[in-house]
Amino acid sequence: MSSSPERGRLIAIDGPAASGKSTLAQHLANKLGFLYFDTGVMYRAATLAGLQAGIPPSDEKRISELAFELSIDVRPPSKPDGRQYDVIMNGEDVTWELRSEAVDANVSEVSAYARVRQAMTERQREIGRRGRVVMVGRDIGSVVLPEADLKIFLEASVKERARRRHEERLARGEDVEYEEVLESMRARDRIDSSRDLAPLQAAENAVIIDSTHMSFEEVLERALELVQG
Ligand code: DC
Repeated sequence: MSSSPERGRLIAIDGPAASGKSTLAQHLANKLGFLYFDTGVMYRAATLAGLQAGIPPSDEKRISELAFELSIDVRPPSKPDGRQYDVIMNGEDVTWELRSEAVDANVSEVSAYARVRQAMTERQREIGRRGRVVMVGRDIGSVVLPEADLKIFLEASVKERARRRHEERLARGEDVEYEEVLESMRARDRIDSSRDLAPLQAAENAVIIDSTHMSFEEVLERALELVQG
């Protein structure tokens, strides 16, 4: 891919939960007319499918089989309810179910399974091959699309990310304590960063942006500078 004329068309954005990478990717994709693809929904879908089928998240074998069989389709948003896209899993709209606490609590475990990652990585590379995509995740620059033209690793302190996620959840009408959000964020960071396979880490040639003390506009401006130059 690195020598193909499609170069200049793959942007990888990685970083921990609630670092603002989805919002950044969506804005960049809109500006550039690229597809925005959030790979986290795939791991969330595998987790939800397991929960719905009554398979314990610790059952690696059955969860992995499920991941290979699962049909996951991401489409433009069909409802004006704050969603960025529709996620259709085995024919059912599961966009908001993917954001439930049960999925949040189990997705790190499921996404650490080698065969689950294999199933999802293959699908993600397929989408990357078409070019003109801003792909978001934890391992896009390092594993999924190492040939990406621009790799951004977006960080923020865990307290700042918990503060942002807490606000989002309150705005959605959920009754949740900041301390609870912070604890769950720390637990996910721990699992995502310490797993053996494709752990959360910046690719060697990624540009690191720490957004702890930056407004969203500043982050977007910095990213646009990187795209342009
Ligand atoms: O970005 P998110 O919170 O929707 O991601 C959900 C989980 O999936 C998170 O625990 C990390 C994992 N994930 C991953 O391992 N690799 C990716 N490319 C994207 C997400």
